Amino acid sequence: WILILDYGSQFTQLIARRLRELHIYCEIHPYNVNLDEVSTPTPGGIILSGGPKSVNDKDAPGLQAKIIDWDIPILGVCYGLQLLAHTEIPGSVEKAEKREYGRANLLIDNSEDLLKDIEDESVVWMSHGDHIHELPPSYEIIGHTTNAKVAAVRHKENHIYGVQFHPEVAHTEHGKQLLQNFAYTICGLKGDWTSESFIDEQIQSIREKVGDDKVLCALSGGVDSTVVATLIHKAIGDQLQCVFVDNGLLRKNEFESVLDLYTQDLHLPVKGVDASKLFLDRLTGISDPEEKRKIIGNTFIDVFEEEIGDDADFKYLAQGTLYPDVIESVSFKGPSATIKSHHNVGGLPEKMKLDLIEPVRELFKDEVREVGRTLGIPDHFIGRHPFPGPGLGIRVLGELSEDRLNLLREADYIFVEELKEQNLYNDVWQALAVLLPVQSVGVMGDERTYEFTIALRAVTSLDGMTADWSHLPYEFLAHVSNRIINEIKGINRVVYDISSKPPATIEWE
Ligand code: XMP
Repeated sequence: WILILDYGSQFTQLIARRLRELHIYCEIHPYNVNLDEVSTPTPGGIILSGGPKSVNDKDAPGLQAKIIDWDIPILGVCYGLQLLAHTEIPGSVEKAEKREYGRANLLIDNSEDLLKDIEDESVVWMSHGDHIHELPPSYEIIGHTTNAKVAAVRHKENHIYGVQFHPEVAHTEHGKQLLQNFAYTICGLKGDWTSESFIDEQIQSIREKVGDDKVLCALSGGVDSTVVATLIHKAIGDQLQCVFVDNGLLRKNEFESVLDLYTQDLHLPVKGVDASKLFLDRLTGISDPEEKRKIIGNTFIDVFEEEIGDDADFKYLAQGTLYPDVIESVSFKGPSATIKSHHNVGGLPEKMKLDLIEPVRELFKDEVREVGRTLGIPDHFIGRHPFPGPGLGIRVLGELSEDRLNLLREADYIFVEELKEQNLYNDVWQALAVLLPVQSVGVMGDERTYEFTIALRAVTSLDGMTADWSHLPYEFLAHVSNRIINEIKGINRVVYDISSKPPATIEWE
């Protein structure tokens, strides 16, 4: 496996993505992690990421001595490369006269190992203000650009390499080949990390961890928790008990159809709990977004507690936490602000003294989908758009009530069904309808109306962190708008949200 040490670059996660695509297992840790804690088994290679600092800054993040002593192949990317040079000759890195951002042409001087099977001239992506002006004598140049005489280097004796550009970004033409050369040729790794091997390993470790105890899994109807439950069920059979809660905030027909899939297709031991009344009682009349989220989170905990009762055999709670939520990325900007308190069943483990089982916490979303396919979860389910835990509750803006939820539920249903019908569903990362607490005047069959507005939102995204609005065809939007206004009494206006994230977010609350 490969250890990626994070120096704070916005691209660090992409290094992991590219390696995973090469079927290499890797983990990202902060540059100052305790190496003894993360080095079992010993990694086959180390990558030092880029970062926003200058190695000449007083508080510049440094290189742990052990990394060089270890004698494991190292690849330094951008800041990582400068750190390697600076460690050997302090002052060898300086501010570049011309800062370099964006495309540059890499010209190869030596194609023996790191730059093997890469064209003599190819596009690479740069993003740096510093450059190396004095290469330590123990290194040699293996690639340059017109602007940077040191674009790729290797150590003359040890397996240490460095590149000034970013091989992990899609704009670097042969970046993946470079990372493959490092992982396969230089580190001697095989690229045998597949969803099958992942499943085998996880089954083994879940069995060892759980023993004869019981595991509770809260299903949300989404891909992540479904994959987790299926995996754990394969490992320990009916020592797993799943709960799927109708919180009254689900989409139309969702509770019944998902429960069918769980029991009939996936044969999971799942109990459907209709708690919609409890949720709606607590939520009716609430309009503050954060208050809604807190109430929903706490009510989930109450329902699960009730389900577990005093069965002391439950020792574990399974969750579908993903890698992007786990990575402790290095940030030099200080703690990030809480934008929204995302709901999970976070309060439950402490309250009930349950240990967590999070079998997909090292995976990215598309890898979870791949594992799901391998486990036999049907394709139409795997491809579902994400749906937030607080559900339609955060899509009725302002005051919540059952009537308003019903209006939204119908509009959402028409929008999503039409996307499927017109083969647009898979072009969109997530699609949703929002009920605005705004009434406006309309005219229908010579009558004046004074009714609510629906906002439609569809976005393209890779991971939900950034998103652009989907450029859906006008004819399609016109058709959906027509249907919503004609079929749902209480709605007389439909608008389409054309904001990106940032500065907006995907959900409206
Ligand atoms: P935002 O609105 O923050 O959403 O741009 C990003 C993604 O996260 C989903 N989301 C949630 N998922 N619990 C969840 O499980 C939540 O509380 C929550 N809030 C937002 C949202 O649907 C989008 O996919």
